Amino acid sequence: MATTFIHGGTVVSSTGRQLLDVLIDDQKIVAVLEPGSTTLGADLASTADTVIDATGRYVIPGGIDGHTHMEMPFGGTTASDTFETGTRAAAWGGTTTIVDFVVQNPGMRLQDTVAAWHDKASGNCAVDYGFHQIIGGVDDDSLKGMAELVNEGITSFKLFMAYPGVFYSTDGQILRAFQEGAELGALMMMHAENGSAIDVLVEQAIARGDTAPYFHGTSRAWQMEEEATHRAIMLAHLTKAPLYIVHVSAKQAMQQVVTARDNGQNVFAETCPQYLYLSLEEQLGAPVFEGAKWVCSTPLRSRAEGHQDELWKYIRTGDVTTVATDHCPFCMKDQKEMGIGDFSKIPNGIGSVEHRMDLMFQGVKDGRLSLERWVDVCATTPARMFGMYPRKGIITAGADADVVIYDPNGHTSIGLGKTHHMNMDYSAWEGYEIDGHVDTVISRGTVIIDDGEYRGTKGHGQFIKRGLSQNLI
Ligand code: URP
Ligand code: ZN
Ligand code: ZN
Ligand code: ZN
Repeated sequence: MATTFIHGGTVVSSTGRQLLDVLIDDQKIVAVLEPGSTTLGADLASTADTVIDATGRYVIPGGIDGHTHMEMPFGGTTASDTFETGTRAAAWGGTTTIVDFVVQNPGMRLQDTVAAWHDKASGNCAVDYGFHQIIGGVDDDSLKGMAELVNEGITSFKLFMAYPGVFYSTDGQILRAFQEGAELGALMMMHAENGSAIDVLVEQAIARGDTAPYFHGTSRAWQMEEEATHRAIMLAHLTKAPLYIVHVSAKQAMQQVVTARDNGQNVFAETCPQYLYLSLEEQLGAPVFEGAKWVCSTPLRSRAEGHQDELWKYIRTGDVTTVATDHCPFCMKDQKEMGIGDFSKIPNGIGSVEHRMDLMFQGVKDGRLSLERWVDVCATTPARMFGMYPRKGIITAGADADVVIYDPNGHTSIGLGKTHHMNMDYSAWEGYEIDGHVDTVISRGTVIIDDGEYRGTKGHGQFIKRGLSQNLI
């Protein structure tokens, strides 16, 4: 069993930072030591199989991206990252666990869809992975299947108020699924946009000749996100289901979440780097068809309306609970291009799994969140939210040895040909310069990124059987 000793670094948790040494034995952290407190540290620095000097750098728990879609069939095509390419890109960026969405369409047995996702992921992942379940067809069978999935470590279920005819649930279906979720103690996740009203706005825009990507954003108006968020919160209140709103982009939707939380309801919000940094005007409104690169739902919001700054604020207040990517990559060629002349045919999604830790660290550098909150929203709270704590999300004895050594004085230039390992022919983050650098990534005791070198293997990543959420009020 190989030992790794990381010394001289500053271990950062969600509650503080301290100069500490970390001893890893095989796949686990076995000790966290105060430097100089015993002679053990000095001994280990010469006897451990691998010794890493982390002086001047942060030692943080590996990132947990709670929202990805690897090789997901969607929008008439399939998300371009496989579990192999997507988890390798995650590793490059300091993410050591992803939670991906199993997809169920009406009439499919949940158990069959889970088996299909295990087939796709098993033996292919560079880092650990768990699953959420999308229920696209709420009926007696799928509701019955939820309990079985919870026992198999799939403890969260996503429903859609968007995408009629694809994943959409009626309010009655949502009510029934929430009742079941409440009974099981499972986390109910919601894509909160009023899909049937949006479909009318989309149809009207296309009929007017407003076919460019920009109009994807304007037809998915913030009122549609606020309204759906409110409706989901009310249905959760009635049924006592814990509710997690995914990919919140509108400040008004956040106000609904804040009101519910202030009332003591188990309501949580996730946002994504694209909603913090990018906008309707600059990205979706880029010339000709360029805006297609940033077509995703919920859409990027207007900077003039100030959504981005408000979301950063809600990260500080704690009302945004986690930051995930909603990684759902499509290439421009042959995929996004399907929507030339009709934005509604552009497959929805942005790829960011590689850059979340860096982009959020830039928020630390810019004074938008603390170092501890960075670790919290990117690792510790996702671990608790999705029932993986304290195995994941913290540097402590007994935890999996998922560790990132992050250099706050390093530099990362994002873009094709620079740091890009996702299977996409463009970067949604081209030209972004980060004041920080992922130097070393350790996944369950194995060094998989070693300052600019990938040393991981496909199949190293294991399925994580998750427990119920540990983050409920
Ligand atoms: O545009 C997005 N978000 N694509 C992925 C599917 C979803 O709704 O999360
Ligand atoms: Zn969604
Ligand atoms: Zn998604
Ligand atoms: Zn470096």
